[in-house]
Amino acid sequence: MHHDGMHFFALAGGPKGSRRGLLVLNHEYTDERYLHTGTATMPPLASWTLEMVRKSQNGVSVVEVARDDGVWHVVRSRRNRRITATTSMSVSGPGAGHRLLRTAADPRGATPLGTFNNCAHGYTPWDTYLTCEENFHGYFRLVAGGYDTEHAALNAAYGIGGDRNNWGANDPRFVVTAADPNEPNRHGWVVEIDPFDPDATPVKRTALGRTKHEGAFVHVSRGGRAVVYMGDDEVNQYVYKFVSAGNWKSLRARGQSPLDAGTLYVARFHGDGSGEWMPFVHGSGPLTEANGFADQGDVLVKTRLAAKALGATPMDRPEWTSVDANTGMVYLTLTNNTSSAKVEHPANPRKPNRWGHIVRWTEDANDHTSTAFSWDLFLLAGQGRGSGDGSTVQDDDRFGSPDGLWVDPDGRVWIQTDGTQPDGANDQMLAANPYVDDAAGVPEIRRFFTGVRGCEVTGVVTTPDQRTMFVNIQHPGESVPSTWPHDDGFTTPRPATVVITKDDGGVIGA
Ligand code: FEO
Ligand code: CA
Ligand code: CA
Ligand code: CA
Repeated sequence: MHHDGMHFFALAGGPKGSRRGLLVLNHEYTDERYLHTGTATMPPLASWTLEMVRKSQNGVSVVEVARDDGVWHVVRSRRNRRITATTSMSVSGPGAGHRLLRTAADPRGATPLGTFNNCAHGYTPWDTYLTCEENFHGYFRLVAGGYDTEHAALNAAYGIGGDRNNWGANDPRFVVTAADPNEPNRHGWVVEIDPFDPDATPVKRTALGRTKHEGAFVHVSRGGRAVVYMGDDEVNQYVYKFVSAGNWKSLRARGQSPLDAGTLYVARFHGDGSGEWMPFVHGSGPLTEANGFADQGDVLVKTRLAAKALGATPMDRPEWTSVDANTGMVYLTLTNNTSSAKVEHPANPRKPNRWGHIVRWTEDANDHTSTAFSWDLFLLAGQGRGSGDGSTVQDDDRFGSPDGLWVDPDGRVWIQTDGTQPDGANDQMLAANPYVDDAAGVPEIRRFFTGVRGCEVTGVVTTPDQRTMFVNIQHPGESVPSTWPHDDGFTTPRPATVVITKDDGGVIGA
């Protein structure tokens, strides 16, 4: 349920690779009204069983798909796999075995269970999938009282608690107590999955930091280093990048993961269009034991606290990032921010920011390992420039709450929305041409489609030949009734992956 970030891994080279592959997709959360049978409303707590909790604990799917006679279908395959909140995982990087990751059930802090609330994603040049743990905090039941200062600060910084899907009722791992307070610290990471090996253990890569990770877009720098751009999606949170310590091929040849050895940075945007990346290095600047960071593991488990100490720029909910491989430009969606605590900044104009915007930047000398960059506003979303709401898009191109984002190999900027739309319209998907500005200096934008009632549009990828596009329609019927994809007036609405091809068989968007 609730498909989100997604990638297509070809199972062959050449044209065959565009006809058969592994579709790997995140499942962000579940809607209990539609997940269980015989329920039209959230089932009462007393009725919850462990079986219901297990059904709700989804994560990531690996699904082999193939195109035969022009039609895509799911293949029965030994590679098909479901990774859930109870799948065995390992943990690597400075957080592995750290005291803040140790629990009564796992005293070595080495074998966390599962991943959940997987929002956007990433994929690596060595053909693995990255799933990002976003709003993990809300699945825990926080038993009040007795926490030491350190855990009280961590619980507050990440907003732990809420038990939103009643998991605590039957799965004691999701009940947090002062005596065993570390289970939440084992979530909020980027998890690497080898989609080609159904027996491979997923790895939580702690060097990439612990936030409410939206996505993890990997770009290879000129020197072959793996650079990972990441947003932390909450009001007034930050933008990150990780730079591997060396060439990714050399590191892997030495048996090291490029996602374990390297430096994490957080962005500071200056008002004059410049910006800088500030490194998370224990012992330097404010990241000292006196300030509550005893070692590098502390710095990473407490990423949000460390970023604040470094003076990062609070943003309007950083969602997906994507790099245009043709120009090196990095794009970032900022979905919206109506918080009264927002501090207006040239990179986050408009308070409140109801409609969201897209920021982009170029790293100094177009070197993605650089610690300086220059940024500008790609567009301000909203009801259109004639409306007076500060939006820069043409009235016909109006949209709000940009979230999903992907720059395809030709440079088209695909934009997917999640949230408030002008005129109460449904969520939608658009494409912007960053190479053609209109007279007002704003990119040309076309609306690709509008979604169905109550859905979010999220997750987009094409086959290598760009002639099949997969798009996810998440949570149809969440806010307003829908029976999509059926039109019978009574069926349960179902999130789905939609396949898009052109009538002439051409490149999507061309
Ligand atoms: Fe799960 Fe930030 O969207
Ligand atoms: Ca999202
Ligand atoms: Ca949504
Ligand atoms: Ca969103």
